[in-house]
Amino acid sequence: MVSLDSVFICPVCSGQFTLVTQSLKCESGHSFDIARQGYVSLMTGSSPKSDTREMVQARHWFLSQGVYEPITEALVSITSLVLNNRDSALIADLGGGTGWYSRYILDRFPTLDGVLVDASPFAAKIAAKVHSRLVVGTADLWSSIPLSDSSVDLALVIFAPRNPEEIARILNPDGTCVVVTPGKHHLAELRTVVPMLGIEPDKEARLFEQFSTFHHKASTELDYKVVLSSEEITSVVAMGPSAFHLSCEDLPAVQPTEVTVSVRIHEFRL
Ligand SMILES: C[S@@+](CC[C@H](N)C(=O)[O-])C[C@H]1O[C@@H](n2cnc3c(N)ncnc32)[C@H](O)[C@@H]1O
Ligand SMILES: [Zn+2]
Repeated sequence: MVSLDSVFICPVCSGQFTLVTQSLKCESGHSFDIARQGYVSLMTGSSPKSDTREMVQARHWFLSQGVYEPITEALVSITSLVLNNRDSALIADLGGGTGWYSRYILDRFPTLDGVLVDASPFAAKIAAKVHSRLVVGTADLWSSIPLSDSSVDLALVIFAPRNPEEIARILNPDGTCVVVTPGKHHLAELRTVVPMLGIEPDKEARLFEQFSTFHHKASTELDYKVVLSSEEITSVVAMGPSAFHLSCEDLPAVQPTEVTVSVRIHEFRL
């Protein structure tokens, strides 16, 4: 069974951890607290901007409504193909938020273990409780990811920051990185009625540039329409990057609206 001390390494010296009461300690004496909820705080230096309590609550509720279930199912299919019934494997959900996708995948594959890294303590509190085979730590993905070299079989980066150099280091030589990004028309209908940040036009090109040292194996385009209720519309805005610039009270009440969900799922191998 996966455990915090077996999966994470010291973010300061990369040493192995031992579990000592409510903390992880490395051989050099660096010590990191395990929160009451069960995640370990591995943040060193100043914390990066990450999801606020309100954004996390909105995301948690929105995902529970099942609107993104087709995305989750697509990820289950890709996991099945990539890991091909391995007896054991470790998935790393980088910027994994509340652990929605990890939980779903771990439920489907009883031989998999998971580790989730996110900078937001509010997300980590929820993620730490979603699955017994998922361990959770807070860390900054822009600095070194506190996981051993070649220890990860499948890295997931779902609408989250990507650090390809570090992903290449933590992936084992057979490993795969799956990146999910919004398509050009993702939630396009909402952009005319509520304040949301647009999708950068060159997002895809930048992604391929960032992963140029990897082999691009496949890309899946997933597009579907769904009617969002007023509450779902408020939440989908409140959980996204626009929420850094406005509060829920700023949002106009919007009638249920049919929207396009459009994502791209890219698979990269070392
Ligand atoms: C759009 S959310 C996606 C969460 C999750 N993957 C999902 O789809 O439900 C982006 C996540 O990345 C996290 N994040 C942002 N910057 C980060 C950083 N520098 N290091 C680690 N996590 C970060 C946020 O806290 C947030 O949980
Ligand atoms: Zn150390």
